[in-house]
Amino acid sequence: MRVIIADNYKEMSKKAAVMVSSQVILKHDSVLGLATGDTPLGMYKELIKLYEDKEVDFSGVTTFNLDEYYKIQRENPESYYYYMNNNFFKYVNVKKEKIYIPNGTAKDIDEECRNYEDEIKNKGGIDIQILGIGANGHIGFNEPDVNFEAETHLVKLDKMTIEANSRFFNSKDEVPTTAISMGIKTIMQSKRVVLLANGEVKADAIYKTVKGKICPEVPASILQLHSDATIIVDKGAAKLL
Ligand code: F6R
Repeated sequence: MRVIIADNYKEMSKKAAVMVSSQVILKHDSVLGLATGDTPLGMYKELIKLYEDKEVDFSGVTTFNLDEYYKIQRENPESYYYYMNNNFFKYVNVKKEKIYIPNGTAKDIDEECRNYEDEIKNKGGIDIQILGIGANGHIGFNEPDVNFEAETHLVKLDKMTIEANSRFFNSKDEVPTTAISMGIKTIMQSKRVVLLANGEVKADAIYKTVKGKICPEVPASILQLHSDATIIVDKGAAKLL
């Protein structure tokens, strides 16, 4: 596990964007695993700049998002579908038919999850997976006491996650309590993993991820076993390292 400590959020975002863009430059038809939340917003901005400056071309890439709230319409501004379009896809040239985000309104959840896994495998697997981390150590929506062997599945969100994500909704009651998420096994099968974290609120989770025991209580700790994992943090998130 490589740990890169960036001076600040902007530097963290730039470094992540350089990793993603060099992946796409080296392999035009790369498969990108993408995350939502506050953390990668700066990285998406940097990638948009690189695209506008003609440094990178996304026309060949396929993308798979980590997760989506369950029972949320794509048009809902809080859906991850909406987020991705609003913060990244509408500014770059990823082809619509190559964008995969779990369908949060699927009638048959098991089928949706199976199909999602199959699509990832059909596309040759994820070349680079971007991750954020919850203050409780979750990656994707794989909450503490995780089953390390799970693939894409329906998850019940942790109280702490509902609390943290309520900042995007009008009230805590509106936050969905379940989501479809890639499992730890799906994430671990990605060829490269890049986890981003900023701010002191993530310092404890980062310390446990990098220096702690590998355990289901800290889902991200499993990344210690990945053969190509990079953690890029700002000084706040690195505070306890
Ligand atoms: C988002 C995701 C989550 C977030 C995590 C951190 O797709 O899977 O694991 O990465 O909750 O969220 P932020 O970046 O908002 O602190």
